[in-house]
Amino acid sequence: MIRAHEHMNSQAIRQKFLAFFKERGHTIVPSSSLIPDDPSVLLTTAGMQQFKPYFTGELDPMEYFKDKDGNPTRNTVSIQKSFRTSDIDEVGDESHLTFFEMLGNFSFGGYFKEKAIEYGHEFITKEMGLSIDYVSVFEGDSEIPADAESEKIWKLLGVKDIRKFGRKDNFWGPTGAEGPCGPTTEIYVNSALRQAQGKPPVEVWNIVFNEYYQRKDKKLEKLKTPGVDTGMGLERLAMVVQNKPTIFETDLFVDIAPDGLPTNMDVRFKRIMLDHARAVAFLIADGVRPSNKDQGYILRRLVRRMMAHFHRAARGSFSTGDVLGMDFIDIERLLVAAVSKYGDFYENLKKETMLLVFREENERFRRAINNGVRELKKVDEVDAKQAFKLFESYGLTYEILKDFAGDKAKNLNRQDFDSEFAKHQEISRAGQEKKFGGHGLILDTGELKAGNEEELKKVLRLHTATHLLQQALREVLGKEVGQRGSDITAERTRFDFSFPRKVTLEEIKKVEEIVNQKIKEDLPVNFVELPKAEAEKVGALYFFKEKYPEKVKVYFVGKTLETAWSKEFCGGPHVKRTGEVGKFRISKEEAVGSGVRRIRGVVE
Ligand code: SER
Repeated sequence: MIRAHEHMNSQAIRQKFLAFFKERGHTIVPSSSLIPDDPSVLLTTAGMQQFKPYFTGELDPMEYFKDKDGNPTRNTVSIQKSFRTSDIDEVGDESHLTFFEMLGNFSFGGYFKEKAIEYGHEFITKEMGLSIDYVSVFEGDSEIPADAESEKIWKLLGVKDIRKFGRKDNFWGPTGAEGPCGPTTEIYVNSALRQAQGKPPVEVWNIVFNEYYQRKDKKLEKLKTPGVDTGMGLERLAMVVQNKPTIFETDLFVDIAPDGLPTNMDVRFKRIMLDHARAVAFLIADGVRPSNKDQGYILRRLVRRMMAHFHRAARGSFSTGDVLGMDFIDIERLLVAAVSKYGDFYENLKKETMLLVFREENERFRRAINNGVRELKKVDEVDAKQAFKLFESYGLTYEILKDFAGDKAKNLNRQDFDSEFAKHQEISRAGQEKKFGGHGLILDTGELKAGNEEELKKVLRLHTATHLLQQALREVLGKEVGQRGSDITAERTRFDFSFPRKVTLEEIKKVEEIVNQKIKEDLPVNFVELPKAEAEKVGALYFFKEKYPEKVKVYFVGKTLETAWSKEFCGGPHVKRTGEVGKFRISKEEAVGSGVRRIRGVVE
């Protein structure tokens, strides 16, 4: 028996989800980047992350969000790009992924348990045509009471099987070092096919009632206004709706690997390929580049693991082949397929950038790996120390060693490897500091800070972007905008300015548009040196006059000083043309004292 919804593809599910909540008073908010603004988290792991300040009351949702009729609302809906590194070792089984899409509806002090559960029930049973196997609710413990209210609501909706679990299963959050958290209720569903195969129902939807704030010291405080945060993995939902045995048979994966994978690759490795292809494409699109630290290190491991698997599949064995002779056209095909499958919904996926980054890493890896394989042959056992050496000198990552070194690596575990890794990072950081006289910086003007050449390039782009930002802010918000401070690292620019109220989402968009327009015009960036009084006369902006010497440099963006679009007292340095800046995005806007706002911006 084919059920009506079995042919619903993933894009139709996305659209239905957004439309369902839009119809019910929610604003559709685009996914935020995989790189979060919160420095205590490496990657975005959940839809609620971009909404943290609304849950805590730092920002007022009514100032930012409008429903379909144009009225302010406390409710939002999103499809969030998410990434969980904690599952990296599990990828290859039937359900674990690194990258996934999370459907979520949120309320910041609007509706609470009753509506949230009713919406969940209606969407699953009516819109998706599924029946709910069972639900779970929080059973309570010494600190937090049982969630009797949710239980009652489910009962009224006719759900019979209501199970109760503790903190481990039915309590969520926070992301990062501190934040909103609370008891959850979860919906479990199965597909007819899975059921016939004796497979258990899967948790599709996690509905969190954010009632608490967990502080850094782990203490829970009651939030002033409770909120709703829900998350449903698109892949799992598609699996049950499309009546497939695993997520890998849904269109989300089938469409990116119809026949490109080598036939002698086993099913676990094929799944690793599919997962990693999506993950790599999305990380690169959000500006991550392979490196040995943070997000870059995650990307590097994924790319290299894909290459190693392909190599083995093509050559029969990982240790006998010559990687130099190999082309990785099949991986490129997978990556390109991922971009075309997802590119319609996620606009920043660009084939050219992705291939460029992949090929560069590919080259680096090839150069190192043959020696690595030779080295691996010489050792009898790969312990953490040995593994780190193979990684550092030859690019063999932990995953590659685990996958390919066989018995030699059987005692190697991630914890030991990670602590070895951490030790070396500390040592190299200490070494850098010594070299730069305790600074670890090659550029430090007070305002600009860069530790190496790569960072320096980024800092210059952000510095020019900051000038464009100030001028754009003045155009959108008016002349009362004046600089109050600025701080630029390779990660982001931070710009403080005088302005009496919150900047709205629309205004932020407008500012971004103007900056990106000026970048597109590829204007020259130059400076002239002038006596301070004259510099003032040409209309150049300054932070505070006393800060500057009698003769000042005026940096201007445009062909001539007279016609320049932006002019500022500034010591430099900058990029040569605005085109070098790349794409500018405002990642955060907040208050830092009365009448002073702070904007953080990034370039991609
Ligand atoms: N934050 C919860 C989760 O990630 C619900 O969205 O599961």
